[in-house]
Amino acid sequence: MNVLLLGSGGREHALAWALSASPLLKSLYCAPGNAGIAEVAQCVPLDIADHSALAAFCRENRIDLVVVGPEAPLVAGVVDDLTAAGIKVFGPSRAAARLEGSKGFTKDLCREFGIPTATYARFSNAGDAKAYAARHPLPLVVKADGLAAGKGVVIAETKEDAEKAIDACFGGSFGPAGAEIVIEEFLQGEEASFFALVDGKHALPLATAQDHKRAFDGETGPNTGGMGAYSPAPVMTPEMSERVMSEIIRPTVAAMAARGTPYKGVLYAGLMITAEGPKLIEYNVRFGDPEAQVLMMRLKSDLLAALLATVDGVLGSFDLRWHDDAALTVVLAAKGYPGTPVKGTEIRGLEEAAMVPGVEIFHAGTRRDGTRLLANGGRVLNVAARGRTVSEARDRVYEAISRIDWPEGFYRRDIGWRAIGRERGDQPG
Ligand code: AMP
Ligand code: GLY
Repeated sequence: MNVLLLGSGGREHALAWALSASPLLKSLYCAPGNAGIAEVAQCVPLDIADHSALAAFCRENRIDLVVVGPEAPLVAGVVDDLTAAGIKVFGPSRAAARLEGSKGFTKDLCREFGIPTATYARFSNAGDAKAYAARHPLPLVVKADGLAAGKGVVIAETKEDAEKAIDACFGGSFGPAGAEIVIEEFLQGEEASFFALVDGKHALPLATAQDHKRAFDGETGPNTGGMGAYSPAPVMTPEMSERVMSEIIRPTVAAMAARGTPYKGVLYAGLMITAEGPKLIEYNVRFGDPEAQVLMMRLKSDLLAALLATVDGVLGSFDLRWHDDAALTVVLAAKGYPGTPVKGTEIRGLEEAAMVPGVEIFHAGTRRDGTRLLANGGRVLNVAARGRTVSEARDRVYEAISRIDWPEGFYRRDIGWRAIGRERGDQPG
């Protein structure tokens, strides 16, 4: 089969790495890709927002399946447009991608179908939003309704913070994504990421993961797209996973089908495991980044076969096998991230780093300049490893990182602390 993957981050490198191992694969293309993806796929400089150019490329290159990495093209309807052109695509339609594209849409769906989530209200003007905030206990969570690249969420500890966040949204800080807001109750508990393949009717759970969203050690600093992740998430016991499937994932799949907008693709539930049980924080309509990196490290089965089964609607009779090993990944980011990262600096030592047993290096934002490898983004590299335990995977990752020579980069030194504490027998917390 010929496959075209859309995207250019560490998630896409991990997907490309897994796809390239498939016995079903003939040629793998990636648009636009990065320097690491170029080692396993042919990178093509297509504009992924130009759906007719994508369709033309697919026809010319006899593409049998398109796999969409990031959320923006999904919300923009790339699946609808390519499907209309007769091309098979892994990912949800524009209507189904509203699960990520509009937080208010998802909250209303949860309310209508009894899916556990934080209590909330939706607003389209600042006056009503502030009046609501004044009447409800703090902290409150203020969210831009639309896609805001992970930056549209403020946890307001004071009334002033809440008002500032409300004004920022309606003042245009997030563009059209902030024209509406959701204000919700602050949930206490431990966060986990849960992934399932969904074919419109059936949901097949994947492995679980936890990521670290804050930029610096000790969960401090600004929110980022994710500075590291590991799988499995210890808080997601088999019993908890079954509750998530029966209380959150399956009702969502049934609700989307009942509304005539069946969900197909990977469904990523951001969860809070509270004292009352799992609650949905948000949905994403794609793999997590960097969670995909650790999922792909643990996946034993053929990813391409699984994605095809999803598109073909036959997940009901499909199963996946996983390595029992844990996996962990650490993000190397350019100094300045998540603000303005320094670009164009040289990275050395990746070959030596990749020689550490169990290690894979996924590129997130790199480009080649002759033989030199240059940083070309905020999140630049993911160093990932498998190990019998999270601690072993962690030791391998940091050994590999110590071999990388890139003074202009930074990374967190405490990825996996919660799981490693549990492995040591510390109290969970
Ligand atoms: P989101 O973009 O909705 O995932 O929110 C980003 C982060 O904000 C989440 O990963 C949580 O850490 C936090 N967050 C969002 N909503 C809530 C909530 N209702 N209660 C507690 N934390 C939240
Ligand atoms: N790591 C969080 C995300 O992919 O949204």
